[in-house]
Amino acid sequence: MKALVLAGGKGTRLRPLTHTSAKQLVPVANKPVLYYGLESIAEAGITEVGVIVGDSAPEIRAAVGDGSAFGLDVTYLPQEAPLGLAHAVLIARDWLGDEDFVMFLGDNFVLGGITPLVEDFRAERPDARILLTRVPDPSAFGVVETDGRGRVLALEEKPRAPRTDLALVGIYLFTPAVHAAVRAIRPSARGELEITDAIQWLVDSGHDVRSTRITGYWKDTGNVADILEVNRSVLDRTAHRVEGFVDAGSELVGPVVLEPGARVIGSRVVGPAAIAAGAVVTRSQVGPYSSIARGVHIADSEIADSIVLEGARIDGVRRVEGSMIGREAVVTPAPAAPAAHRLVIGDHSTVEIRS
Ligand code: G1P
Repeated sequence: MKALVLAGGKGTRLRPLTHTSAKQLVPVANKPVLYYGLESIAEAGITEVGVIVGDSAPEIRAAVGDGSAFGLDVTYLPQEAPLGLAHAVLIARDWLGDEDFVMFLGDNFVLGGITPLVEDFRAERPDARILLTRVPDPSAFGVVETDGRGRVLALEEKPRAPRTDLALVGIYLFTPAVHAAVRAIRPSARGELEITDAIQWLVDSGHDVRSTRITGYWKDTGNVADILEVNRSVLDRTAHRVEGFVDAGSELVGPVVLEPGARVIGSRVVGPAAIAAGAVVTRSQVGPYSSIARGVHIADSEIADSIVLEGARIDGVRRVEGSMIGREAVVTPAPAAPAAHRLVIGDHSTVEIRS
């Protein structure tokens, strides 16, 4: 069995962060979302992984390499434009050969991995198996109708009037039967070859398409609110590990990950929180639910429920909450006069100021 990991797309809802990096590389508890998916694939005993890449191919390649760091053998499959999930299967045809595969959307996060799902699929081998979960806002997802035994009857991509609250999770198990389906379908109104249409084609042509309800935690990390939520959920499960330096004037409360080379001076860190190597926190309060990346400097500030990316600096700011601060960004208070905000903000940024 192989894995097809989708790491293309534009990540428009995560701008401006996705102007300079891939949405799949946004860090959660100081680790890119994509790494969690690759780890769960490796855990499930799959080693051959095709990674679909688009405009952000250089960043994805730099982050994943040949896959050996994950125990994987990675092949990159360039997609010339984000033409849909079924299009990704279409262009991966030669690489996939006649093997079964799990398709994994690189911005999806699922707690607990995929090992039991892969094992069940190997044992039962329906033509396809999809994962479903109840969501409060089904019209943002592929929506599925099943019979009482979980057999799939109908699917619709982001319907205005959803017929159920069962959303398609971005992890799909396929036999080679899917290849005829992706060849048979036509682009949707949004101009994409939809995997939901391909699965509907399988259903309509009499194939055995089954579903599994997942009840555990799952999130499509498409926007900042979702990423912060995944960050909270991963941090909630982290164990206290202090390998960095904490001076006598500092206090760590609750589970805190302090990587080697991180420094906490005259500060209070309230877990769950993660502070990466080379980050320096001085005379500040950090956490709960903050992930501070490598080389970040936080001084005379308060921050909670936020993700701060590599090399950013927050100095003299009370207080930052529910925020994502990009690489090398600088957040400082204005001098006393003039009483005005002075901003240099990248395209598509969002800034909420108390004013
Ligand atoms: C895609 C699929 C959708 C699925 C979702 C899960 O949507 O098209 O059916 O429910 O992933 O993350 P997208 O995130 O590309 O809008």
